[in-house]
Amino acid sequence: MNKKKILLYGFGTVGKGFYHIYQDKKNPAFELIGIIVKNLTKHSPADVPIHAYNTDNEKILFSQADVIIECTSNYGEGRDIILNALENGKTVISASKKVLAENLSEIIQVREKHKAKLLYEAAAAASIPVFKALYQHFSDEKIKNFKAILNGTSNFILTKMEAEGLSYTKALEQAQQLGYAEADPFLDVSGWDTAYKLTLLTFAATGIILNPHQLFIEGIDNLTFQDIYLAKNNGLKIKLLAIADIEKEIYFVCPAFVSDELANIDEAFNAIKIEYEYAKSQFYAGRGAGKEATGSAIWGDLNLSQNILDTHTKPVQKATLTNTYGYWFIRLNEPSYTNVLYSKVKEILTYNKMQNYYIVHASLFSLQELKKLAPNTQIIRIEHQETLKLFTQQSVSYSFQF
Ligand SMILES: NC(=O)c1ccc[n+]([C@@H]2O[C@H](COP(=O)([O-])OP(=O)(O)OC[C@H]3O[C@@H](n4cnc5c(N)ncnc54)[C@H](OP(=O)(O)O)[C@@H]3O)[C@@H](O)[C@H]2O)c1
Repeated sequence: MNKKKILLYGFGTVGKGFYHIYQDKKNPAFELIGIIVKNLTKHSPADVPIHAYNTDNEKILFSQADVIIECTSNYGEGRDIILNALENGKTVISASKKVLAENLSEIIQVREKHKAKLLYEAAAAASIPVFKALYQHFSDEKIKNFKAILNGTSNFILTKMEAEGLSYTKALEQAQQLGYAEADPFLDVSGWDTAYKLTLLTFAATGIILNPHQLFIEGIDNLTFQDIYLAKNNGLKIKLLAIADIEKEIYFVCPAFVSDELANIDEAFNAIKIEYEYAKSQFYAGRGAGKEATGSAIWGDLNLSQNILDTHTKPVQKATLTNTYGYWFIRLNEPSYTNVLYSKVKEILTYNKMQNYYIVHASLFSLQELKKLAPNTQIIRIEHQETLKLFTQQSVSYSFQF
Protein backbone atom coordinates (compact mmCIF):
# COMPACT_ATOMS: atom_id res chain seq x y z
CA MET A 1 0.00 0.00 0.00
CA ASN A 2 1.17 3.49 -0.86
CA LYS A 3 1.28 5.09 2.59
CA LYS A 4 0.66 8.82 3.00
CA LYS A 5 3.73 10.37 4.60
CA ILE A 6 2.92 12.81 7.37
CA LEU A 7 5.12 15.49 8.88
CA LEU A 8 3.92 17.03 12.15
CA TYR A 9 4.91 20.59 13.08
CA GLY A 10 4.42 21.32 16.80
CA PHE A 11 4.44 18.88 19.69
CA GLY A 12 2.46 20.70 22.38
CA THR A 13 -1.15 20.07 23.45
CA VAL A 14 -2.48 19.62 19.91
CA GLY A 15 0.52 17.82 18.43
CA LYS A 16 0.62 15.34 21.30
CA GLY A 17 -3.14 14.83 21.02
CA PHE A 18 -2.75 13.85 17.36
CA TYR A 19 0.29 11.66 18.06
CA HIS A 20 -1.55 9.75 20.79
CA ILE A 21 -4.38 8.84 18.39
CA TYR A 22 -1.92 8.04 15.58
CA GLN A 23 -0.17 5.55 17.85
CA ASP A 24 -3.46 4.07 19.10
CA LYS A 25 -4.96 3.56 15.64
CA LYS A 26 -1.94 2.12 13.81
CA ASN A 27 -3.66 2.87 10.51
CA PRO A 28 -1.56 1.35 7.70
CA ALA A 29 -2.61 4.14 5.33
CA PHE A 30 -0.45 6.68 7.19
CA GLU A 31 3.19 6.95 8.16
CA LEU A 32 4.39 9.71 10.47
CA ILE A 33 7.87 10.40 9.12
CA GLY A 34 8.84 13.10 11.61
CA ILE A 35 7.94 15.68 14.23
CA ILE A 36 9.29 19.22 14.01
CA VAL A 37 9.54 21.43 17.09
CA LYS A 38 11.05 24.78 17.89
CA ASN A 39 13.34 23.89 20.75
CA LEU A 40 14.73 20.35 20.56
CA THR A 41 16.20 20.39 24.07
CA LYS A 42 12.68 20.42 25.58
CA HIS A 43 11.85 17.01 24.12
CA SER A 44 12.93 13.51 25.08
CA PRO A 45 13.31 10.95 22.25
CA ALA A 46 10.00 9.47 21.07
CA ASP A 47 9.25 6.59 18.69
CA VAL A 48 9.57 8.90 15.71
CA PRO A 49 12.45 11.25 15.01
CA ILE A 50 12.01 14.77 16.44
CA HIS A 51 13.88 17.57 14.70
CA ALA A 52 14.17 21.29 15.14
CA TYR A 53 12.52 23.77 12.76
CA ASN A 54 14.62 25.17 9.92
CA THR A 55 17.35 22.53 9.91
CA ASP A 56 18.57 20.31 7.04
CA ASN A 57 16.67 17.37 8.53
CA GLU A 58 13.45 19.37 8.51
CA LYS A 59 13.94 20.31 4.85
CA ILE A 60 14.57 16.69 3.79
CA LEU A 61 11.50 15.45 5.69
CA PHE A 62 9.42 18.29 4.25
CA SER A 63 10.34 17.30 0.70
CA GLN A 64 9.25 13.70 1.39
CA ALA A 65 5.95 14.51 3.10
CA ASP A 66 2.49 14.30 1.47
CA VAL A 67 0.62 15.80 4.43
CA ILE A 68 1.76 18.64 6.69
CA ILE A 69 0.04 18.95 10.06
CA GLU A 70 0.63 22.43 11.43
CA CYS A 71 -0.02 22.92 15.13
CA THR A 72 2.69 25.31 16.19
CA SER A 73 2.25 28.21 18.54
CA ASN A 74 4.34 30.57 16.44
CA TYR A 75 2.25 32.99 14.37
CA GLY A 76 4.87 34.01 11.78
CA GLU A 77 6.52 30.62 11.37
CA GLY A 78 3.14 28.88 11.39
CA ARG A 79 2.10 31.08 8.46
CA ASP A 80 5.31 30.25 6.57
CA ILE A 81 4.85 26.51 7.17
CA ILE A 82 1.26 26.57 5.85
CA LEU A 83 2.05 28.69 2.78
CA ASN A 84 5.19 26.75 1.90
CA ALA A 85 3.32 23.44 2.16
CA LEU A 86 0.44 24.67 -0.03
CA GLU A 87 2.87 26.11 -2.59
CA ASN A 88 4.37 22.64 -2.84
CA GLY A 89 0.95 21.07 -3.41
CA LYS A 90 0.88 19.26 -0.07
CA THR A 91 -2.26 18.59 1.93
CA VAL A 92 -2.28 20.92 4.95
CA ILE A 93 -4.11 20.28 8.21
CA SER A 94 -3.87 23.17 10.65
CA ALA A 95 -5.16 24.02 14.13
CA SER A 96 -3.91 27.60 14.09
CA LYS A 97 -7.00 29.81 13.95
CA LYS A 98 -5.11 33.08 14.33
CA VAL A 99 -2.73 32.31 11.44
CA LEU A 100 -5.58 31.09 9.25
CA ALA A 101 -8.03 33.91 10.03
CA GLU A 102 -5.48 36.73 9.77
CA ASN A 103 -4.13 35.44 6.43
CA LEU A 104 -7.23 33.77 5.02
CA SER A 105 -7.30 35.60 1.71
CA GLU A 106 -3.64 34.87 0.88
CA ILE A 107 -3.82 31.27 2.12
CA ILE A 108 -6.91 30.53 0.02
CA GLN A 109 -5.35 32.11 -3.08
CA VAL A 110 -2.19 30.01 -2.72
CA ARG A 111 -4.26 26.92 -2.05
CA GLU A 112 -6.30 27.48 -5.22
CA LYS A 113 -3.28 28.24 -7.36
CA HIS A 114 -1.53 25.04 -6.33
CA LYS A 115 -4.68 22.89 -6.09
CA ALA A 116 -3.74 21.75 -2.60
CA LYS A 117 -6.09 20.56 0.13
CA LEU A 118 -6.52 22.56 3.32
CA LEU A 119 -8.45 21.36 6.38
CA TYR A 120 -8.74 22.98 9.82
CA GLU A 121 -11.43 21.32 11.88
CA ALA A 122 -9.31 21.71 15.05
CA ALA A 123 -9.12 25.48 14.62
CA ALA A 124 -12.67 26.15 15.88
CA ALA A 125 -14.88 24.10 18.21
CA ALA A 126 -12.31 21.29 17.84
CA SER A 127 -14.20 18.07 18.48
CA ILE A 128 -17.43 19.27 16.80
CA PRO A 129 -17.24 18.50 13.06
CA VAL A 130 -18.89 21.80 12.17
CA PHE A 131 -16.63 22.70 9.23
CA LYS A 132 -17.40 19.36 7.64
CA ALA A 133 -21.12 19.99 8.12
CA LEU A 134 -20.76 23.40 6.48
CA TYR A 135 -18.58 22.62 3.49
CA GLN A 136 -19.61 19.02 2.87
CA HIS A 137 -23.11 18.07 3.86
CA PHE A 138 -24.59 21.57 3.57
CA SER A 139 -22.38 22.74 0.71
CA ASP A 140 -25.43 23.42 -1.46
CA GLU A 141 -27.73 24.80 1.19
CA LYS A 142 -27.97 28.45 2.18
CA ILE A 143 -26.83 29.16 5.73
CA LYS A 144 -28.90 31.99 7.14
CA ASN A 145 -27.19 32.64 10.45
CA PHE A 146 -25.29 31.12 13.31
CA LYS A 147 -24.55 31.86 16.94
CA ALA A 148 -21.81 30.13 18.82
CA ILE A 149 -19.85 29.76 22.03
CA LEU A 150 -16.35 29.19 20.70
CA ASN A 151 -13.97 30.02 23.52
CA GLY A 152 -13.73 27.43 26.30
CA THR A 153 -11.63 29.65 28.57
CA SER A 154 -14.18 32.47 28.61
CA ASN A 155 -17.02 30.03 29.04
CA PHE A 156 -15.24 28.40 31.97
CA ILE A 157 -14.72 31.82 33.62
CA LEU A 158 -18.37 32.79 33.07
CA THR A 159 -19.55 29.46 34.49
CA LYS A 160 -17.43 29.88 37.64
CA MET A 161 -18.65 33.45 38.14
CA GLU A 162 -22.24 32.35 37.71
CA ALA A 163 -22.24 29.07 39.61
CA GLU A 164 -19.78 29.84 42.41
CA GLY A 165 -20.04 33.61 42.70
CA LEU A 166 -16.33 34.09 41.91
CA SER A 167 -14.98 37.44 40.77
CA TYR A 168 -13.63 37.68 37.22
CA THR A 169 -10.04 37.69 38.55
CA LYS A 170 -10.56 34.63 40.77
CA ALA A 171 -12.32 32.71 37.99
CA LEU A 172 -9.47 33.54 35.59
CA GLU A 173 -6.91 32.35 38.16
CA GLN A 174 -8.77 29.04 38.44
CA ALA A 175 -8.87 28.67 34.65
CA GLN A 176 -5.11 29.23 34.56
CA GLN A 177 -4.46 26.71 37.36
CA LEU A 178 -6.48 24.07 35.50
CA GLY A 179 -4.65 24.75 32.23
CA TYR A 180 -7.73 26.19 30.46
CA ALA A 181 -6.23 29.66 30.16
CA GLU A 182 -2.77 30.66 29.02
CA ALA A 183 -0.45 32.74 31.23
CA ASP A 184 -1.44 35.62 28.90
CA PRO A 185 -5.19 35.16 28.47
CA PHE A 186 -5.66 38.23 26.24
CA LEU A 187 -6.78 36.44 23.05
CA ASP A 188 -9.35 34.35 24.93
CA VAL A 189 -10.99 36.93 27.20
CA SER A 190 -10.81 39.88 24.79
CA GLY A 191 -12.99 38.07 22.23
CA TRP A 192 -10.22 37.91 19.59
CA ASP A 193 -9.95 34.12 19.65
CA THR A 194 -13.71 33.96 19.08
CA ALA A 195 -13.41 36.49 16.23
CA TYR A 196 -10.80 34.33 14.49
CA LYS A 197 -13.12 31.34 14.75
CA LEU A 198 -16.08 33.41 13.52
CA THR A 199 -13.98 34.35 10.48
CA LEU A 200 -13.20 30.70 9.69
CA LEU A 201 -16.76 29.48 10.21
CA THR A 202 -18.17 32.29 8.06
CA PHE A 203 -15.79 31.33 5.27
CA ALA A 204 -16.77 27.66 5.44
CA ALA A 205 -20.46 28.60 5.52
CA THR A 206 -20.44 31.18 2.72
CA GLY A 207 -17.06 31.72 1.04
CA ILE A 208 -17.03 35.25 2.54
CA ILE A 209 -13.62 36.38 3.79
CA LEU A 210 -14.03 38.62 6.83
CA ASN A 211 -11.24 40.83 8.10
CA PRO A 212 -11.31 40.29 11.88
CA HIS A 213 -9.81 43.77 12.37
CA GLN A 214 -12.98 45.33 10.96
CA LEU A 215 -15.35 43.48 13.28
CA PHE A 216 -16.93 44.72 16.49
CA ILE A 217 -15.23 42.54 19.12
CA GLU A 218 -16.21 42.74 22.77
CA GLY A 219 -14.75 40.41 25.38
CA ILE A 220 -15.62 39.48 28.94
CA ASP A 221 -12.68 41.18 30.65
CA ASN A 222 -14.65 44.07 32.12
CA LEU A 223 -17.54 41.99 33.41
CA THR A 224 -18.38 42.32 37.07
CA PHE A 225 -20.09 39.95 39.45
CA GLN A 226 -23.06 42.38 39.44
CA ASP A 227 -23.53 41.79 35.71
CA ILE A 228 -23.57 38.03 36.23
CA TYR A 229 -25.90 38.43 39.19
CA LEU A 230 -28.25 40.63 37.18
CA ALA A 231 -28.49 37.88 34.56
CA LYS A 232 -28.92 35.11 37.12
CA ASN A 233 -31.59 37.03 38.98
CA ASN A 234 -33.59 37.19 35.76
CA GLY A 235 -33.20 33.53 34.81
CA LEU A 236 -30.55 34.35 32.18
CA LYS A 237 -26.87 33.62 31.63
CA ILE A 238 -24.14 35.68 30.01
CA LYS A 239 -22.23 33.87 27.26
CA LEU A 240 -19.53 35.14 24.93
CA LEU A 241 -21.05 34.71 21.46
CA ALA A 242 -19.88 34.82 17.89
CA ILE A 243 -22.85 36.12 15.92
CA ALA A 244 -23.19 35.85 12.15
CA ASP A 245 -26.39 37.01 10.51
CA ILE A 246 -25.35 36.12 6.99
CA GLU A 247 -28.57 37.28 5.32
CA LYS A 248 -28.20 40.74 6.87
CA GLU A 249 -24.37 40.87 6.61
CA ILE A 250 -23.92 41.40 10.34
CA TYR A 251 -20.97 39.82 12.10
CA PHE A 252 -19.69 40.49 15.61
CA VAL A 253 -18.42 39.04 18.86
CA CYS A 254 -20.04 40.11 22.12
CA PRO A 255 -21.20 38.67 25.43
CA ALA A 256 -24.98 38.28 25.37
CA PHE A 257 -27.77 37.53 27.78
CA VAL A 258 -29.04 34.12 26.73
CA SER A 259 -31.84 31.81 27.78
CA ASP A 260 -31.93 29.31 24.88
CA GLU A 261 -29.91 26.09 24.38
CA LEU A 262 -26.67 28.08 24.52
CA ALA A 263 -27.37 28.89 28.19
CA ASN A 264 -26.88 25.21 29.06
CA ILE A 265 -23.34 25.10 27.67
CA ASP A 266 -21.09 25.41 30.69
CA GLU A 267 -17.46 24.98 31.70
CA ALA A 268 -15.00 24.69 28.78
CA PHE A 269 -17.57 23.37 26.28
CA ASN A 270 -18.37 24.94 22.89
CA ALA A 271 -21.65 25.02 20.98
CA ILE A 272 -23.01 26.29 17.68
CA LYS A 273 -26.58 26.95 16.65
CA ILE A 274 -27.00 27.16 12.86
CA GLU A 275 -30.06 28.10 10.85
CA TYR A 276 -30.09 26.40 7.44
CA GLU A 277 -32.37 27.10 4.50
CA TYR A 278 -34.08 23.68 4.48
CA ALA A 279 -32.63 21.73 7.41
CA LYS A 280 -33.68 24.67 9.63
CA SER A 281 -32.21 24.97 13.10
CA GLN A 282 -29.41 22.66 14.22
CA PHE A 283 -27.45 22.66 17.44
CA TYR A 284 -23.98 21.19 17.91
CA ALA A 285 -22.10 20.94 21.21
CA GLY A 286 -18.86 19.38 22.42
CA ARG A 287 -15.31 19.93 23.57
CA GLY A 288 -13.63 22.84 21.85
CA ALA A 289 -10.07 22.51 23.10
CA GLY A 290 -7.58 20.20 24.79
CA LYS A 291 -5.40 17.29 23.75
CA GLU A 292 -8.03 14.71 22.81
CA ALA A 293 -10.57 17.08 21.26
CA THR A 294 -7.99 18.69 18.96
CA GLY A 295 -6.24 15.37 18.29
CA SER A 296 -9.58 13.89 17.26
CA ALA A 297 -10.28 16.82 14.93
CA ILE A 298 -6.91 16.44 13.20
CA TRP A 299 -7.31 12.68 12.95
CA GLY A 300 -10.73 13.19 11.35
CA ASP A 301 -9.26 15.71 8.88
CA LEU A 302 -6.48 13.32 7.98
CA ASN A 303 -8.93 10.54 7.20
CA LEU A 304 -11.23 12.87 5.29
CA SER A 305 -8.35 14.29 3.24
CA GLN A 306 -7.97 10.86 1.60
CA ASN A 307 -11.50 10.92 0.25
CA ILE A 308 -12.29 14.47 -0.79
CA LEU A 309 -11.16 16.64 -3.64
CA ASP A 310 -11.96 20.01 -2.16
CA THR A 311 -12.92 21.52 1.16
CA HIS A 312 -13.92 24.93 -0.18
CA THR A 313 -17.07 24.45 -2.10
CA LYS A 314 -18.42 28.00 -2.07
CA PRO A 315 -16.95 30.72 -4.29
CA VAL A 316 -14.74 33.22 -2.47
CA GLN A 317 -16.49 36.54 -1.81
CA LYS A 318 -15.44 39.86 -0.35
CA ALA A 319 -17.21 40.78 2.89
CA THR A 320 -19.66 43.63 3.24
CA LEU A 321 -20.37 44.64 6.81
CA THR A 322 -23.76 46.16 7.48
CA ASN A 323 -24.57 48.31 10.48
CA THR A 324 -27.48 47.31 12.67
CA TYR A 325 -29.43 48.81 15.52
CA GLY A 326 -30.04 46.73 18.60
CA TYR A 327 -30.47 46.81 22.35
CA TRP A 328 -27.46 46.61 24.59
CA PHE A 329 -26.53 46.63 28.25
CA ILE A 330 -23.65 49.00 28.90
CA ARG A 331 -21.63 49.26 32.10
CA LEU A 332 -19.56 52.40 32.11
CA ASN A 333 -16.71 51.39 34.36
CA GLU A 334 -15.48 54.98 34.27
CA PRO A 335 -18.39 57.35 34.85
CA SER A 336 -16.39 60.22 33.32
CA TYR A 337 -17.28 58.72 29.93
CA THR A 338 -21.00 59.44 30.33
CA ASN A 339 -20.90 62.22 27.72
CA VAL A 340 -19.17 59.92 25.25
CA LEU A 341 -21.87 57.33 25.83
CA TYR A 342 -24.63 59.88 25.28
CA SER A 343 -23.06 60.97 22.02
CA LYS A 344 -22.87 57.44 20.66
CA VAL A 345 -26.23 55.87 21.48
CA LYS A 346 -29.53 56.67 19.86
CA GLU A 347 -31.62 56.24 22.97
CA ILE A 348 -31.09 55.40 26.63
CA LEU A 349 -34.06 53.31 27.73
CA THR A 350 -33.17 53.03 31.39
CA TYR A 351 -30.17 53.36 33.62
CA ASN A 352 -29.23 52.20 37.07
CA LYS A 353 -27.34 54.89 38.94
CA MET A 354 -26.22 52.67 41.80
CA GLN A 355 -24.72 50.01 39.56
CA ASN A 356 -23.70 52.32 36.77
CA TYR A 357 -25.34 50.46 33.94
CA TYR A 358 -27.47 51.61 31.03
CA ILE A 359 -29.87 49.84 28.71
CA VAL A 360 -29.52 51.51 25.34
CA HIS A 361 -30.66 51.40 21.74
CA ALA A 362 -27.57 51.84 19.58
CA SER A 363 -25.95 50.82 16.33
CA LEU A 364 -23.13 48.31 16.12
CA PHE A 365 -20.75 50.76 14.47
CA SER A 366 -21.34 53.46 17.08
CA LEU A 367 -20.56 50.94 19.84
CA GLN A 368 -17.33 50.17 18.02
CA GLU A 369 -16.47 53.88 18.31
CA LEU A 370 -17.56 53.97 21.96
CA LYS A 371 -15.16 51.14 22.79
CA LYS A 372 -12.26 53.00 21.19
CA LEU A 373 -12.98 56.07 23.31
CA ALA A 374 -13.90 54.26 26.53
CA PRO A 375 -12.13 50.88 26.45
CA ASN A 376 -13.04 49.84 30.01
CA THR A 377 -16.72 49.85 29.17
CA GLN A 378 -18.46 46.47 29.18
CA ILE A 379 -21.09 45.89 26.52
CA ILE A 380 -23.54 42.98 26.60
CA ARG A 381 -25.93 42.21 23.78
CA ILE A 382 -29.64 41.97 24.55
CA GLU A 383 -30.83 39.43 22.03
CA HIS A 384 -34.49 39.04 22.88
CA GLN A 385 -37.42 41.40 23.43
CA GLU A 386 -38.38 39.50 26.61
CA THR A 387 -34.94 40.22 28.09
CA LEU A 388 -35.28 43.87 27.19
CA LYS A 389 -38.67 43.96 28.90
CA LEU A 390 -37.25 42.37 32.05
CA PHE A 391 -34.50 44.96 32.36
CA THR A 392 -36.52 48.01 31.46
CA GLN A 393 -39.34 47.13 33.83
CA GLN A 394 -36.94 46.36 36.64
CA SER A 395 -34.86 49.49 36.77
CA VAL A 396 -37.85 51.77 36.26
CA SER A 397 -37.20 53.59 39.53
CA TYR A 398 -33.91 54.92 38.12
CA SER A 399 -35.03 55.32 34.58
CA PHE A 400 -35.58 58.19 32.27
CA GLN A 401 -36.38 58.35 28.60
CA PHE A 402 -35.13 60.76 25.99
N1 LIG B 1 -4.53 23.92 22.91
C1 LIG B 1 -5.72 23.83 22.36
O1 LIG B 1 -6.66 23.27 22.94
C2 LIG B 1 -5.96 24.39 20.98
C3 LIG B 1 -7.24 24.27 20.42
C4 LIG B 1 -7.46 24.70 19.10
C5 LIG B 1 -6.42 25.29 18.41
N2 LIG B 1 -5.19 25.44 18.99
C6 LIG B 1 -4.13 26.06 18.20
O2 LIG B 1 -3.19 25.05 17.84
C7 LIG B 1 -1.88 25.59 17.81
C8 LIG B 1 -1.01 24.81 18.79
O3 LIG B 1 -1.53 24.94 20.09
P1 LIG B 1 -0.92 24.13 21.34
O4 LIG B 1 -1.86 24.38 22.45
O5 LIG B 1 -0.61 22.74 20.96
O6 LIG B 1 0.43 24.95 21.59
P2 LIG B 1 1.63 24.55 22.56
O7 LIG B 1 1.20 23.53 23.54
O8 LIG B 1 2.21 25.83 23.04
O9 LIG B 1 2.68 23.84 21.58
C9 LIG B 1 3.21 24.52 20.49
C10 LIG B 1 4.23 23.66 19.80
O10 LIG B 1 4.67 24.37 18.64
C11 LIG B 1 6.06 24.18 18.52
N3 LIG B 1 6.60 25.21 17.64
C12 LIG B 1 6.69 26.55 17.80
N4 LIG B 1 7.24 27.11 16.71
C13 LIG B 1 7.52 26.10 15.85
C14 LIG B 1 8.09 26.00 14.58
N5 LIG B 1 8.50 27.07 13.93
N6 LIG B 1 8.21 24.77 14.00
C15 LIG B 1 7.79 23.66 14.62
N7 LIG B 1 7.24 23.68 15.85
C16 LIG B 1 7.11 24.88 16.45
C17 LIG B 1 6.55 24.24 19.95
O11 LIG B 1 7.86 23.69 20.00
P3 LIG B 1 8.63 23.48 21.39
O12 LIG B 1 7.90 22.34 22.05
O13 LIG B 1 9.99 23.09 20.99
O14 LIG B 1 8.52 24.77 22.11
C18 LIG B 1 5.49 23.37 20.63
O15 LIG B 1 5.81 22.01 20.53
C19 LIG B 1 -2.02 27.07 18.17
O16 LIG B 1 -2.11 27.82 16.99
C20 LIG B 1 -3.35 27.13 18.92
O17 LIG B 1 -3.97 28.38 18.80
C21 LIG B 1 -4.94 24.99 20.25
